[in-house]
Amino acid sequence: MDSTSPPKRTTKQSETRDRVLDLIERLDTGDAIPSERQLSADLGVSRLTVRAALDELVREGQLVRRRGAGTFVSEPKIAQELTMTSFTEDMRRRGMTPASRTLDLRVVQAGARLGRIFHVSPSEPIVVAKRLRLADDETMAIETLHVREALVPGISAEDLEQSFYDLLKSRFGISIVSGIETIEATVTNEDESAELGVPLQSPAFLFERTTRSEDGSVVEFVQSIYRGDRYQLITELAGPENAARVGARLVAVDDGRLR
Ligand code: GLP
Repeated sequence: MDSTSPPKRTTKQSETRDRVLDLIERLDTGDAIPSERQLSADLGVSRLTVRAALDELVREGQLVRRRGAGTFVSEPKIAQELTMTSFTEDMRRRGMTPASRTLDLRVVQAGARLGRIFHVSPSEPIVVAKRLRLADDETMAIETLHVREALVPGISAEDLEQSFYDLLKSRFGISIVSGIETIEATVTNEDESAELGVPLQSPAFLFERTTRSEDGSVVEFVQSIYRGDRYQLITELAGPENAARVGARLVAVDDGRLR
């Protein structure tokens, strides 16, 4: 095959998408892109093809549509490193202003599942707090935090409108020293879509983090839904000889069973 001929599977839509991506690269965040009609004329493809390519770029978070105003270049995604930092610290490091809104806080009995996670009896009281995380007033994630009440007596919804990790340290004298995080692909459900202000079934990352304090006991179990259009995950790859040390693992899920 002639190396300059395009791969067979290149479709009109993906070609259009790539050409709009080139255009996006030359524009600034917040700039409007030309209308569908204009793009269709400029690129020599049908409006239907342009619309499908733009839909794809909107889903990927490269473009954002504003009703009646047009289609604009999105903010660059947040490159989230896989480290144990707090949301607050992460956003501050990027020069953004973090915020947290407590949507719900209740104390429940651990039950079997949380009992196993925390290594406590099913009757142990657990604080469950649902928080909306924002950066520069834009929604980023929804986090459901679980922590033993005995560890954070008297914690209130208002307390959690600031950094939980800072609070743990300053008020309760607890430092987090290790943790495990799993990440899965998901889509937002009805509640999450409304809370994050994104369309139903938007792509998202589901993070589950379990952290421990110095004495090895579990401090928090957190399930977080991060916006797929605002985040990308970034990690440095260790060579095969270092993989075990770093603890990198690829886990394939098959029929719900972990391999
Ligand atoms: C991240 C983690 C959560 C953790 C939170 C603490 O968002 N995914 O598991 O609870 O950071 O952040 P903060 O100290 O800002 O509340």
